[in-house]
Amino acid sequence: MAHEHLTRRRFLTGAAAGGLTAWLASCSSDGSTSSPPAPTSTSSGPTTSGAIDIGGAFAQPEVLASSGGLLEVVLRVEEAQVPWGDSTRFCLTYNRTTPGPTLRVRPGDRLQIRLENRLAEPTNLHTHGLQVSPEGDGDNVFVAVDPGEDRTYVYDIPADHRSGLFWYHPHAHHTVARQVAGGLAGAIVVVDEVDDAPELAGSNERIWVLADPPIGTSPEVLDVSAMKQMAGREGDAVLVNGVLTPEVAARVGEVERWRMVNASASRYYRLAVNDHDLHVIATDGGRLPAPVTATEVLLAPGERAELLIAPSAAGRFAVRSLPYDRGGMGMGGMGGSSGTAETTIATMIATGTGDPALLPETLPVNDDPVPDATASRVVELGMGHMMGQGDMVWTIDGRPFDPARTDIEVALGAVEAWEIRNPTGMDHPFHLHVWPFRVVDTTDASGWKDTVNVPAGSTVRIVVPFTGIAGRTVYHCHILDHEDLGMMGVIDTGPGR
Ligand code: C2O
Ligand code: CU
Ligand code: CU
Repeated sequence: MAHEHLTRRRFLTGAAAGGLTAWLASCSSDGSTSSPPAPTSTSSGPTTSGAIDIGGAFAQPEVLASSGGLLEVVLRVEEAQVPWGDSTRFCLTYNRTTPGPTLRVRPGDRLQIRLENRLAEPTNLHTHGLQVSPEGDGDNVFVAVDPGEDRTYVYDIPADHRSGLFWYHPHAHHTVARQVAGGLAGAIVVVDEVDDAPELAGSNERIWVLADPPIGTSPEVLDVSAMKQMAGREGDAVLVNGVLTPEVAARVGEVERWRMVNASASRYYRLAVNDHDLHVIATDGGRLPAPVTATEVLLAPGERAELLIAPSAAGRFAVRSLPYDRGGMGMGGMGGSSGTAETTIATMIATGTGDPALLPETLPVNDDPVPDATASRVVELGMGHMMGQGDMVWTIDGRPFDPARTDIEVALGAVEAWEIRNPTGMDHPFHLHVWPFRVVDTTDASGWKDTVNVPAGSTVRIVVPFTGIAGRTVYHCHILDHEDLGMMGVIDTGPGR
């Protein structure tokens, strides 16, 4: 094989310590993971979109691509009933679909999105991972769009932006988890010459938006208990592009190229394909210069991976999410565990005969060196009580989120080494807007990232160059209930020069 020099290893897998807190342990149990409610034959809801169903062929969201340097899009946010077996399920949609359309742009393009809020609550829009201005009409998460209002976002994608998979979702504080779990998410693909390289030509490119919505016909499915919120809600069914266990039609001798985003509010996916290695060619925000062979890939909420798979023989191969314990709950057999059971999320059905396709040994990627840090900083994740109240909050550096306070000031141009400490009993995926970083001290080939899992009881070190874009934005836990409960801070580089 062409890549025998590569080591085989578990990719980005952190073993979570099963830490617990007395507070969580004292809750009554309602956090168990249930199997999807069986679709029933009750009457359908008021409005129905035809795009989503149970099982069947692998579906791709509609693709909207830029031309002449511009992509102008309208995203209308509204409630809908979508098909679920011979019934329907309630969800939140962009243009009556969940996930929303895939936006395909190039470095140097302008992406202009008119967000029309037809919900009964505020929402807004964030372009996760894009290196664009976080201020004004840009990727500004401090403004909310009220019910019935519209807002036009303008994103100027730098000409030197890395290609890769990014995504969009709401970011209105206190409602992010319910809105994303309700269905509001979509893929953004930045394409460049690497996508046209002969090494990837002819591969079967597929976007996988992984989501685990709650299943039910009424809006109440978006309401969860305080304890479930504290743990981070997990839904009732794992869907790929809105479809339950789709079938991927693959061919022996061809290369499958899967670009996966974990768009779940809290669920982790530990991905594996029966009888096949995964060849990782990109992580969150950047391509790797050579494929890294792994038997499994862990995707925490917000993370992405681009994988090559060479079907080895005709047959049916389960695409599975292996069990993962992100810690925190589950003491004394309460059934409130946030450990996730094994799930089959799709099936690869390979046909044909002959030899498996050869995979590229390298990719034409600029492997930017990690710059040396000029400053260092400690960031500590935690949990606490609101002053004078019984309510629990998640914190960063001992404080819950306050949009009026600036927690970290950084000089534009600085390169900072951050030590992210997690003394809590749960994993937290740490995410920084606008400025991608490299994870250091890792045995994994992680490339440029914007989200990194910090396992329970551990510390992760990153290096962040604060170059290019300037402004004021946020960093937070991407378990979106934790973000809503305060695990977010504000960072400001000051105005651009
Ligand atoms: Cu994907 Cu601030 O988030
Ligand atoms: Cu983000
Ligand atoms: Cu968290």
